[in-house]
Amino acid sequence: MSLLLAVGALGLAHGQEWSAPNPYRTAPEAQRAAMLTQGQTAYAQHCARCHGAAARQPSAEAPDLRRLNSFCLKLQDGRLAQRCQQDVDAYYSQSVQEGKVRAGVIHMPAWRDTLAPATAWAIQLFVEAQPKPQPRISTSVDAAQGH
Ligand code: HEC
Repeated sequence: MSLLLAVGALGLAHGQEWSAPNPYRTAPEAQRAAMLTQGQTAYAQHCARCHGAAARQPSAEAPDLRRLNSFCLKLQDGRLAQRCQQDVDAYYSQSVQEGKVRAGVIHMPAWRDTLAPATAWAIQLFVEAQPKPQPRISTSVDAAQGH
């Protein structure tokens, strides 16, 4: 209970922001753990049917969200890795807020009016906590690291 209150307070402290970076990534461990649990439930409720069960199952319907930051994790320069992750957060936030409409066809609905920003960020933390899928192709960064 006190943990949930703490998480709620953190959300308010950040003004329920959609703007990147994910404000919960650097939260204290206990609060991050509570966000992860919230993210798991919200992912199952809202995202799993298209993006794959438990953010672990690749899906034919929609991209595997675990791949969004895989490139950033390979960068060895800490500053670059941080900037890369901020870009990913901005792209994630925009995608979730606006959904994906191409040529008038709604591939993904907009979530702006359905999800609180804190819930969207909790979902991202949950997705990022899952084991990464195999890379589809090797990049020059993989080669440099001997993968
Ligand atoms: C009705 C199916 C559907 C649901 C439900 C759905 N998505 Fe999507 N999502 C898609 C599709 C399809 C795409 C790819 C669309 C495109 O690029 O044209 C997508 C793309 C995305 C992207 C961009 C991924 C990339 O690699 O470019 C993000 C981020 C995303 N979704 C997050 C979410 C989150 C978070 C949820 C749950 C709150 C969610 N989606 C629920 C269908 C869905």
